[in-house]
Amino acid sequence: MDKFVIRGGNPLRGTIRVSGAKNSALPCMAAAILTEDEVTLENIPQVRDIETERRLLASMGAEVRQGGADAPHTTTIRCQRLSDPVAKYEIVKTMRASSLVLGPLIARTGMARVAMPGGCAIGGRPIDLHIKGLEKMGAVITQQHGYLEARAERLKGAHLVFDKITVTGTEDLLMAAVLAEDETLMENCAREPEVVDLAALLTAMGAKIEGGGTSTIRVEGVGRLHGARHRIFPDRIEAGTFLIAGAITGGDLIVAGCNATHLSAVIAKLEEAGVRVDILGPDTVRVRGAERLRAADISTEEYPGFPTDMQAQYMALATQAEGVSVVEENIFENRFMHVQELVRMGANIKVEGRTATVRGPAKLSAAAVMCSDLRASASLVLAALVADGESILDRVYHMDRGYERIEEKLAGVGAEIRRMGNIFAPKGEESEAG
Ligand code: EPZ
Repeated sequence: MDKFVIRGGNPLRGTIRVSGAKNSALPCMAAAILTEDEVTLENIPQVRDIETERRLLASMGAEVRQGGADAPHTTTIRCQRLSDPVAKYEIVKTMRASSLVLGPLIARTGMARVAMPGGCAIGGRPIDLHIKGLEKMGAVITQQHGYLEARAERLKGAHLVFDKITVTGTEDLLMAAVLAEDETLMENCAREPEVVDLAALLTAMGAKIEGGGTSTIRVEGVGRLHGARHRIFPDRIEAGTFLIAGAITGGDLIVAGCNATHLSAVIAKLEEAGVRVDILGPDTVRVRGAERLRAADISTEEYPGFPTDMQAQYMALATQAEGVSVVEENIFENRFMHVQELVRMGANIKVEGRTATVRGPAKLSAAAVMCSDLRASASLVLAALVADGESILDRVYHMDRGYERIEEKLAGVGAEIRRMGNIFAPKGEESEAG
């Protein structure tokens, strides 16, 4: 299993580019199931979760083509015949987002067999709200041998009210509704930008959707959808991670190719902590380290609140701030896996239930640490960039799930980071649902 070797102390300077959003690409790829025509997606990030989804779609009978040498970030998917509408456990166990094929499969073929995702490092990750919505639309869903079996002649429009705000739940049911009979009204929907991007693709495919990105989405079912070409928008979490990398190293970094409007809560928090952030344009943000970093509390919320996917990264920054920062994780029940590793590097953090109290500034010293999940890995990279000495980060395959060539991008702006393949270790069971 690959490791990262990172020597801390270099301020990051220069321009770093953001890739396409993994959490937008995943539902958009699943949307290709809804038509027998070709769907071409541009700006797809080259990360493991995307590779997993390509394998998943191909295993069901889809033709999946990557753009080739001249367009590596383009993927074309054609689900002309879905010979085997089954999402197998071997694939689903490595990526919870595989449940995104559930709605489209039932809508397109009238049946689906999807392995239950199971839990993951950050929490239980149930999909009961996906199931409840599909049943309300007329699907008959049974669970056996760890699989969901779903059938429906044709889904019927319904009035759905989510008990909890769920991002992939909103996306799954939106994709189910676009081919359902009559109208579907969905309330208490997720407002994440990734829902907006999916709605834009579905509309380009001929769907009739109003309110994507708001709490209330209205869908008029249509008989069929046609192919489309769509460009995935920039990854707001990768962009936020780079803003914190510039801040924590006391650098002067231009984050290019991002969407600044998706980063309001993160930018506001960084400014509260004393970080200098300048929005140079709609897709370009400059970040400079603070003279003195000040403690500032965060409480993770659904969009447009402070994103849970930025909590671990922010905590690394908070270890360097003067004072006490209270970090509240309200979305997932176990998203503090990075804390013990940060403490091993010298951070002063106490966890009580869903609250972590960070006292700073703490001088971090390099250590051998273990990555446990996607965003915890990012937190450890950020800490290692400022720690005294050379850190070794193990199990970086977690990082590779959602960050494209992260070591090249960071090295390109002055970080001392390199990947070390552990050629003697057996290819481990790399399972993680994100
Ligand atoms: C999406 O996960 C993202 N993944 C996650 O990003 C992100 O952390 C999360 O949304 C929250 O923003 C993708 O988009 C592929 P949820 P998702 O359903 O949809 C509970 C990353 O780091 N819930 O919004 O799975 C759930 O347990 C990943 O890129 C139910 O109870 O999250 C959680 O407590 C990690 N029943 C809360 O809702 C359900 O049926 C929010 O989960 C569904 C969810």
